[in-house]
Amino acid sequence: MKDNAVIRAENLTIRFARRKMPDILAVRSVSLSIGEKETVALVGESGSGKTTMGRALVRLLRPSRGTVWFKGQNVTTIHGKRLRHYHSQAQLIFQDPFASLNPFHTVGYHLERPLMNLRGLSERVARETVSDLLMQVGLTPTLVYQRKYPHELSGGQRQRVAIARALAGNPALVVADEPISMLDVSLRAEVLRLLQSIQEQHGLSYLYITHDLASARYLAHRIAVMYGASIVEMATAETLVRSPAHPYTHLLLAASVGSATDALPETQSGAPDLTESRVGCPFAPRCPLVMDRCRVETPPLVEVEPDHVSACFLHQEGTP
Ligand SMILES: Nc1ncnc2c1ncn2[C@@H]1O[C@H](COP(=O)(O)OP(=O)(O)O)[C@@H](O)[C@H]1O
Ligand SMILES: [Mg+2]
Repeated sequence: MKDNAVIRAENLTIRFARRKMPDILAVRSVSLSIGEKETVALVGESGSGKTTMGRALVRLLRPSRGTVWFKGQNVTTIHGKRLRHYHSQAQLIFQDPFASLNPFHTVGYHLERPLMNLRGLSERVARETVSDLLMQVGLTPTLVYQRKYPHELSGGQRQRVAIARALAGNPALVVADEPISMLDVSLRAEVLRLLQSIQEQHGLSYLYITHDLASARYLAHRIAVMYGASIVEMATAETLVRSPAHPYTHLLLAASVGSATDALPETQSGAPDLTESRVGCPFAPRCPLVMDRCRVETPPLVEVEPDHVSACFLHQEGTP
């Protein structure tokens, strides 16, 4: 994995200051790598640090600690021209396609701009390329869509424009942050299939952020489960769903199996503690299998079988 990793985060920590309150660590020493043409899903409930992690990988945020490697280059603290170039290589698709499009500009304008700014195309060539992009995301006839304004599009069409825009810079990595969660259920599978076919055509790598394990299983090769700023389990998609190891993953699965909604289990003891002074497993306050040890020591990620790691003392019998 290390050798063909397009992106690799090592011990990434992201701290946010809060007024008159202790700082929080929204991401706490997280390591993750994504290979060429690979999709890794980052799954977990709201507030677990997924968006923050995704923003740090594409360097919309500067990590407080740790390193981000992109194709072997350290991009953790790059700025200026190098950062602008990196932004063409690593793109983000947002949850809300309406909020990410400017209501005063046409679809064509939204796509021409990055083609000129990121790929350095002339206005004339950019205009021609716009119709290629629209074709790729299935918005045809392209001439019609090029002239439309965001409010003239459905949610699914807007998300297609957002996807086309992410492709404009010819990226190697796309972070898709809950790209279907605001779409009608009937449109979700279509957009996932589009992301998949684009990956096949362009050989892209994806970080697919979601709270929905079912869509993660559909799209991703590997799944990382995040809880309380940490990755608590990671495995191939099939293994994670078939033989989950971490109690939190069990809970997530129980919530998604057979339920038409993507509701997550109720939080009984509130959101996890994200302050730096937290001790023990982030999931301990909610864990049905909690042991004394879990409240004082943080379980490390350990291999439970090849390509499958989990951070739980239950798998570490024999250690005192
Ligand atoms: N810019 C910010 N400033 C302060 N706190 C933030 C900021 N962005 C996110 N957070 C906090 O970090 C935690 C993780 O948030 P986020 O990464 O958005 O989680 P998720 O995407 O999994 O819902 C939350 O407690 C959130 O309130
Ligand atoms: Mg989020």
